[in-house]
Amino acid sequence: MGLTYRRRLLIVLISIVVLSAGGLLIKRLLLPKSFGVYGPYRADAIAEAALVPIRHGTNASCLKCHPYEAKIHKKGRHQAISCEFCHGTFADHVTDGKKSGTLPVKKEKEITTLCLRCHNTEIKARHEEVIKTVAMPDHLKNQNVKLTNNCNQCHHVHAPLKYINRAKQITGMMEAGL
Ligand code: HEC
Ligand code: HEC
Ligand code: HEC
Ligand code: HEC
Repeated sequence: MGLTYRRRLLIVLISIVVLSAGGLLIKRLLLPKSFGVYGPYRADAIAEAALVPIRHGTNASCLKCHPYEAKIHKKGRHQAISCEFCHGTFADHVTDGKKSGTLPVKKEKEITTLCLRCHNTEIKARHEEVIKTVAMPDHLKNQNVKLTNNCNQCHHVHAPLKYINRAKQITGMMEAGL
């Protein structure tokens, strides 16, 4: 025997009511308490985020203890680059205004690898107008130097063009008029 049209309609309606009530209940149970206080997010998240310890400093945060490097850096072409990009995180080095940890200091080949992360012509995403790039080993070949030279043998790491004219003299490529 089939159900009457009214009974079927009733079953559909009851199902809709039960499902929506259940859905609302689950939503209530799952939503964190502070959700929606200020907007469609957890209001407590603001306080929690504010409690996360600060890990990074600005370049100015290094100035106090490293005035020599900071002054050179500020005047050179690398002035916009964060000290921490090349050296590591402030929090790994300073706690409560005192040195608390050692930052790794890159040397030799590691320096070349670091420089080429930003200055390699192979990295096509970086436009030449935004950042000057070099093709390796052509950049060294052009200057008739051994290919084992690292970038910092001609470029000061903190101000890369600071001694470049001297480097050119030494490598014998001082151009006329410079
Ligand atoms: C482009 C990368 C780069 C940036 C940006 C940079 N440095 Fe350096 N720094 C180096 C490298 C590489 C060395 C080690 C080689 C050298 O001195 O030629 C170094 C050396 C140093 C040293 C000496 C470490 C030692 O004991 O030998 C200090 C201190 C220092 N940097 C501080 C800073 C500060 C402060 C800033 C920001 C104002 C900064 N650096 C920005 C790459 C960088
Ligand atoms: C409270 C002082 C202080 C601050 C701030 C500070 N440093 Fe240092 N740093 C030191 C001391 C002290 C040394 C060890 C002696 C030296 O090399 O001058 C040192 C050494 C270094 C070294 C050599 C490796 C090592 O850890 O011994 C690097 C690289 C360096 N600092 C980078 C930085 C950078 C980058 C910043 C900013 C993000 C910074 N420092 C902020 C005090 C400080
Ligand atoms: C985080 C990215 C970054 C790193 C790492 C980096 N540089 Fe730079 N460099 C820049 C930016 C940005 C400029 C300024 C824009 C420009 O002049 O290309 C610049 C400028 C220069 C210039 C001047 C270019 C010109 O004629 O204007 C030279 C040379 C240079 N860097 C060499 C180096 C060397 C050598 C190293 C490694 C010690 C290095 N850079 C590491 C980003 C970087
Ligand atoms: C033998 C010395 C020497 C070495 C080693 C060297 N360079 Fe250079 N570099 C120069 C000279 C000289 C210039 C030309 C500077 C000028 O006249 O503007 C230059 C220019 C640059 C420029 C600017 C290019 C432009 O189009 O204006 C960048 C970027 C650069 N070098 C990055 C590097 C990087 C990265 C390394 C390491 C992989 C490196 N250099 C190694 C000597 C050197």
